[in-house]
Amino acid sequence: MIKRHSVIVVGSGLAGMRAAVAARESGADVGVISICMPVRSHSVAAQGGINAPLGNNPESKDDSVDRHAFDTVKGSDYLADQPAVIKLISLAKETIYELEHWGCPFSRSEDGRIGQRPFGGAGYPRTCFAADRTGHSVLHVAWERSVRLGVPVYEDRLVVKLTVKNKKVQGIIVLNFITGELEMWECDAVIFAIGGAGQIYGATSNALNCTGFGIAVSAWAGISMKDMEFIQFHPTCLYGNNVLISEAARGEGGYLRNNKGERFMEKYAPEQMELAPRDIVARSIYQEVLEGRGYGPKENGYVHLDLTHLPESQILERLPQIRELALRFSGQDMVKDPIPVQPGYHYTMGGIHVNENCASEEVEGFYACGEGTCVSVHGANRLGGNSLLECAVFGKVAGVEAAKYAKEATPSPDAKFTLFEALHEQEQEIDFWYSGEGKSDPFKIMEEMRNTMKFNVFVYREEESLKIALDKIRELKQQFNDGVYLKSKVRQYNRELEWVFALKGMLDESEAICMGALARKECRGGHWRLDHLKRDDANFLKHSLVSFADGEPKLSYQDVIITKWQPQERKY
Ligand code: FUM
Repeated sequence: MIKRHSVIVVGSGLAGMRAAVAARESGADVGVISICMPVRSHSVAAQGGINAPLGNNPESKDDSVDRHAFDTVKGSDYLADQPAVIKLISLAKETIYELEHWGCPFSRSEDGRIGQRPFGGAGYPRTCFAADRTGHSVLHVAWERSVRLGVPVYEDRLVVKLTVKNKKVQGIIVLNFITGELEMWECDAVIFAIGGAGQIYGATSNALNCTGFGIAVSAWAGISMKDMEFIQFHPTCLYGNNVLISEAARGEGGYLRNNKGERFMEKYAPEQMELAPRDIVARSIYQEVLEGRGYGPKENGYVHLDLTHLPESQILERLPQIRELALRFSGQDMVKDPIPVQPGYHYTMGGIHVNENCASEEVEGFYACGEGTCVSVHGANRLGGNSLLECAVFGKVAGVEAAKYAKEATPSPDAKFTLFEALHEQEQEIDFWYSGEGKSDPFKIMEEMRNTMKFNVFVYREEESLKIALDKIRELKQQFNDGVYLKSKVRQYNRELEWVFALKGMLDESEAICMGALARKECRGGHWRLDHLKRDDANFLKHSLVSFADGEPKLSYQDVIITKWQPQERKY
């Protein structure tokens, strides 16, 4: 049986839930399909805050849309599309007040206004926060809103195929983990809000379901991957397990120290110090460790994040969650001792290629928002606190735009036939994996993929290691395509099957990362080439696009949209 909603949202994090609310409020018949229960989505793990130029902090009275937008563009190393950034920031204030009115328990300043703390790369303290559980709080209110509107959420389901005919969306094929069966869903418009891809590296602050699978699913249907080589390595993940230790710890006054006890950021970013943008802080930590001024092994060591000079009451009130996380996962109490931190994969700056209305220009009826999507507001390096903002702002944009499109759309007469064909094709692939005829263990391929990416496409990159990585990823893809097998033969709740799908997607995502990184012979934001140590605006002030439309990946470029701020040297 074919199920139907006029607008289907895929993913139930903040971007997805905000999109669903907006589509519903615009009058659309909307349903959400998600791998998990909405409040278990990864937005819940965002800690430090959400940016807006409210000017509530005594030090941020002169803040403005212009200043916030400029900081974002400079932070992006000028790769962000400026009209998209201006749209994002122009909608920031009303977005915060909307979340507040929905019940988000923002922390307050002395005078009762929404509190704002300093964050990296920002000219003024503009990060609104709910202690260090901001993502948790905003996701809950967005979800509660959807419950109030009666938006149905279909959980425990993975979208495995997007069906497109004549460059128009027709529906999706969904794996239902509860029954173990494939389902056909017809729609007029679909919104992918599918999250980041940290599981490609494994060493990540991202949850296990952050495989970026939707980036690959949309690419297989003809929608390009954009700027995939730009990965954000968060400077302060807990050593050894990559648990996120929020930038808020530095925003509240924490210091980074090397093994000589020095605040080494003085050398790298004398003005902004620990609150330089993440790409710069991550590289500085990496460099200190490589030069022997860290702790642990040079190739995978750490530095100290020191908050011991802060009043205990400030840590308990403003950073309770990360204190507890550090205590549980490193055994150190940050009130009394420095904690060990190192850079880890945190954020996917690139992703599904859409325009500033969150619409694909390659496939009609397709929309995307949130992490894993590239509206192009973060460019080569995202500023902390702009991610929750992007989810809330562009979630709403995507919902409104998709509802508008769906209202005018005429259902395609052959949509059902296309869905049946796709279902059949997908069933054959799954049956093969279950048959045991495949030769390769998918988990071995995944381990090799992760090691390849971690060791060759990390904070520092160069031609030789990027070539090694690309060749290896292609070899692993071949191995996957020659046949993998499932050990577990159960049909219901087979999470091994979920990983096989994810792996198929992550291999293509990895290939796009390697292709973009190898071809981009410059340093820009999070992409640091040791063999091309300068930014090269003449040749690379452009977005990378990787298309899998005809099976084989093809790399092309698109101009960056610059309307207000000409690229300058980035100093902090
Ligand atoms: O460090 C953090 O709290 C993360 C925030 C973000 O990624 O925006």
